[in-house]
Amino acid sequence: MSKATAKRVAAAPGDNSAAAFDVARVRADFPILTQEVFGHPLVYLDTAASAQKPRQVIEAMSHAYETCYANVHRGVHRMSQLTTDAFESGRETVARFLNAGSADEIVFTRNATEAFNLLATCFASVNLGHGDEVVISTMEHHANIVPWQLVRDRLGIVLRIVPIDDDGNFLLDEYEALLGPRTKLVAVTHVSNALGTVVPLKQVIERAHARNIPVLVDGCQAVPHIKVDVQALDADFYVFTGHKLYGPTGIGVFYGKSELLKDLPPYQGGGEMIASVTFEKTTFKDPPHRFEAGTPPIVEVIGLSAAIDYVQALGQDAIAAHENGLRTYAETRLAQVPGLNLIGTAREKASIVSFTMDSAHPHDIGTIVDRSGVALRTGHHCAQPLMQRLGVAATARASFGIYNTRDEVDVLARALESVHEIFG
Ligand code: ALA
Repeated sequence: MSKATAKRVAAAPGDNSAAAFDVARVRADFPILTQEVFGHPLVYLDTAASAQKPRQVIEAMSHAYETCYANVHRGVHRMSQLTTDAFESGRETVARFLNAGSADEIVFTRNATEAFNLLATCFASVNLGHGDEVVISTMEHHANIVPWQLVRDRLGIVLRIVPIDDDGNFLLDEYEALLGPRTKLVAVTHVSNALGTVVPLKQVIERAHARNIPVLVDGCQAVPHIKVDVQALDADFYVFTGHKLYGPTGIGVFYGKSELLKDLPPYQGGGEMIASVTFEKTTFKDPPHRFEAGTPPIVEVIGLSAAIDYVQALGQDAIAAHENGLRTYAETRLAQVPGLNLIGTAREKASIVSFTMDSAHPHDIGTIVDRSGVALRTGHHCAQPLMQRLGVAATARASFGIYNTRDEVDVLARALESVHEIFG
């Protein structure tokens, strides 16, 4: 996206109020929002699963393929150098977005799941042994559970699970009680994908650091909604994905403090990550390239960079105010639907509203509201242990993004009222 185009959709400079957020102008940037589903305007309330893409991201990617594309870091030819510049400038954009200390602290992966697997594998190989402990929370996505279980099965580590209360609040004192002499890492989400709970990350990190324990944060559901400063948080590792941030699929980000990355071995072997290779011995590049084997997601980085420019031009505080307004309106409106139970009412939440209905299974809810054009996610949200803790098999989830409106919340509420009428 050109900066000029980004400015076209920006809220008034310096004005971060929700009133300054021009949702109609934002919607005009998203071609898909003109689609109809079953004869109704698409009401897309599944941004937590994957966000829609603004024209600026789509155009930045097509523009790259049409005018500036070759493999990166390999060619002496001009086109490769230009593409390398665009790719590495994307790394700098991501570093500024997170306020990382340096672009060398940004590793590109194919998705967030690959970033978790990278860290679990590399961190375990140098830091974990039988009986060592990794602390995760009840609210983790499977992507921040299963890689640690694989390590557990390989090395005999122990997973400790931070409990939550019935509203979905992260229990800080219980968390602290889990930290012990064998705790080698805390790996927690910033925002729960199923409940929207915002975890008190600053305190989580402070309490871990008081015992010299590093902290990995799953920021997938946070960065689209909350301004994240990894240095202010003092996060050691921070992971997010491009496609939930209005960017393309196929691109994940793994941030790590330089002093920690330099001690980690490679994840995958191949081209690009080596300094020299003989049949006897290979030496590796420094981070971040040590962790980027093979041809990277070149155009995806360019698309992610355009997406970051886009959200920053809108203003992250203005986005948060807009989405919090939508969420609180939705919570109030949905609470009036007969037989509807809100699941996850933590003190601090981002733009996710999960619920069940007494009369209908979440999959039936999702299928019926779809006939009104409303896209919800239903199921366990890749968080089965959380569902077990809450005593539900599944929920229906509405998740809001920059393009959603109160009118769309009303469409959802009316569709849910008709679910109650059909099944109630
Ligand atoms: N993790 C994504 C979600 O919460 C897919 O829907």
